[in-house]
Amino acid sequence: MIDLRQAWLVGPVEIPTRLVLAPMAGVSVQAFRRQGRRFGAGLVCSEMVSCAGIEHRNERTLGYLRVADDEHPLAIQLFGSDPDSMAEAARMVEAAGADLVDLNFGCPVRKVTKTGAGATLLDDPDRAARIVSAIARAVDIPVSVKLRRGLRNGSRDCLRVGPLLVDAGASSLTLHPRSAQQMYTGAADHALTAELVSLVDVPVVASGDIDSRARAQAVLARTGAAAVMVGRAAQGNPWVLEEIVGSDRREPSREEVVAELVLFVRETVRELGERRASSFLKKFYGWYLGRGRFPRPFKQELVVLDSTEEVERRLIAAAPGALELIERLESEIPSGDEVTLELPISIYGGG
Ligand SMILES: Cc1cc2nc3c(=O)[nH]c(=O)nc-3n(C[C@H](O)[C@H](O)[C@H](O)COP(=O)(O)O)c2cc1C
Repeated sequence: MIDLRQAWLVGPVEIPTRLVLAPMAGVSVQAFRRQGRRFGAGLVCSEMVSCAGIEHRNERTLGYLRVADDEHPLAIQLFGSDPDSMAEAARMVEAAGADLVDLNFGCPVRKVTKTGAGATLLDDPDRAARIVSAIARAVDIPVSVKLRRGLRNGSRDCLRVGPLLVDAGASSLTLHPRSAQQMYTGAADHALTAELVSLVDVPVVASGDIDSRARAQAVLARTGAAAVMVGRAAQGNPWVLEEIVGSDRREPSREEVVAELVLFVRETVRELGERRASSFLKKFYGWYLGRGRFPRPFKQELVVLDSTEEVERRLIAAAPGALELIERLESEIPSGDEVTLELPISIYGGG
């Protein structure tokens, strides 16, 4: 058995467990990342943040750079295609307090790839390497890169591009061994992860289809990766993180599920405001309450409610014992207001 509660390093940054919570657009808000750290993730990551948005000081984009002090170690992920503007954005990521700057060279979504960013960079190794070296020169924090296997099915481009990125200054690589064309279909081919591990002398993180301790153990043993990354399995299910790092598998009680969800709702409202949070949260109701935990109609009742206060009332009515757990959790963990560092003023372009 491999011990996932072992620390490892990305450059000089110590990561306390060999479990990384995946960056997921529309999911990896601060509440998700803080919860992930609490349940055993050694490293958490923001969703991909647009360099163009940072460059134009888009207010919503700058919100993604807000770091709470109980999230560390934390990576903020950037996407873009221009080395200079990415280096500038990386400086702001560093100033915002991130421990690592992660680069997205894997996003398969057309809106991103058509701008030359995301997975397209796997087809343009020269530009990809220029981006990494511009950023590595611009910041003192380590640079990590997240890749897919390549653009097209069967591609092995990651094996050619990955070592070039390490030469350019990347301190770690994460591989999601599906092609961009595959999106999320088929299976992640971790034979490729093992090959990448053998080609580079920096830690490699294995991403794709890891949803249990057995699977995590098998992938680590087979690939020699430094850590596993968990994405979809952790949506509405922080308990899987606990299990993967080494606790006994257990189904949370209804009260625990409601308590974690209510806390998640409250923190997300603080982070995004009621209006944005109430539509953002709807998918989480299904994720938390599904998996046979609550009857399906209950989830459907929640998604049509207008206010998160009403959602909270219904949740607590369905599992009144959760109230005590919520109080305990709130007394144990620092509130968002206490831990959210104010953005340094320079983030807003000075003044
Ligand atoms: C909803 C969603 C959003 C994602 N957003 C990002 C992202 O912003 N950046 C990134 O590098 N990967 C992103 N991914 C990919 C995941 O980080 C991960 O590599 C992939 O889901 C495979 O791991 P899994 O099988 O554990 O989910 C996203 C995946 C999902 C499902």
